[in-house]
Amino acid sequence: MSKNIISKLAWIDARIELDILHPIFLKSVADEIPIREDSRVIDIGCGMGWACRHIARRYENAEVVGIDLSEDAILKARKLNSKYGFKNIFYAVASSESIPFPDNYFDYAMAFVSFSWWKNIDKSMSEIRRVLNHGGEFYLLDIYGGGLGGIFARVSNALLTSKEKIYSVDDYRKFMEKAFSGVWQKKVKPFRWGVLTVGKKVD
Ligand SMILES: C[S@@+](CC[C@H](N)C(=O)[O-])C[C@H]1O[C@@H](n2cnc3c(N)ncnc32)[C@H](O)[C@@H]1O
Repeated sequence: MSKNIISKLAWIDARIELDILHPIFLKSVADEIPIREDSRVIDIGCGMGWACRHIARRYENAEVVGIDLSEDAILKARKLNSKYGFKNIFYAVASSESIPFPDNYFDYAMAFVSFSWWKNIDKSMSEIRRVLNHGGEFYLLDIYGGGLGGIFARVSNALLTSKEKIYSVDDYRKFMEKAFSGVWQKKVKPFRWGVLTVGKKVD
C-alpha cells in the first residue's frame, strides 16, 4: 500500500475514534467522576478537549484544565473553546511527566485513552500524585488487550509508525497501585470497549 493511502487511512481511523466514538461512548464514564461545582479537574492528554467541554458544560463553576503534548490538538481545543464561549476551561501544551501546576491543586485527574501512549509511566504517575489533593482521585480510562478498543488499537498500530501500547486489565491495576490507594476497576461499554481504573491519593 502506498504511503499516501496509509496516511489517509490513519487519518480516517483517528477521526472516527477521536471525533465520533470517544465523545459518544466515553461521556458516561466522565459522568461517573463525582465532580462538584467547586472542583478542580485536569484532563491529561485531552486531545481536542471533548471531555473538558462536557465537564465544563455540566459544572459551570468547576475549574477544568486540559493538557496535551500536541500543540496542534491544544490549538484546536482553544478554537472550540472560543466558538462555544467556555470561561472555565484552561488549556496548556504539557506532558504528563511535567504538569505545570502546584502541588495538591486538583481534586480529580483523568486520562482518557492517553495513558497507553505515555513513555514514562512512573514519572507521570508521580506527577499526577503530586498535583492531586489529599483524597483526590485519578480516573484512568483506556483500551486493553481483550476489549473492542484493543482491536481498534491493533488496526491503528498497523497503519502508524508510533505504536499505542496495549496493556492488560491487570497491568493497569498494578500501575495504579504503585502510586495510589483503594484501587477499583470496571470494564466500559459498549462491547467491553475499555477499562476504567480509579485510585485515590491517601498519605
Ligand atoms: C488517543 S488521543 C485521546 C484524546 C482524548 N483524551 C480523547 O478521549 O479523545 C491521545 C492523546 O494523548 C496525548 N498524549 C500522549 N502522550 C502524552 C503525554 N505523555 N502527556 C500528555 N499528553 C499525551 C496525545 O497527544 C493525544 O492527543
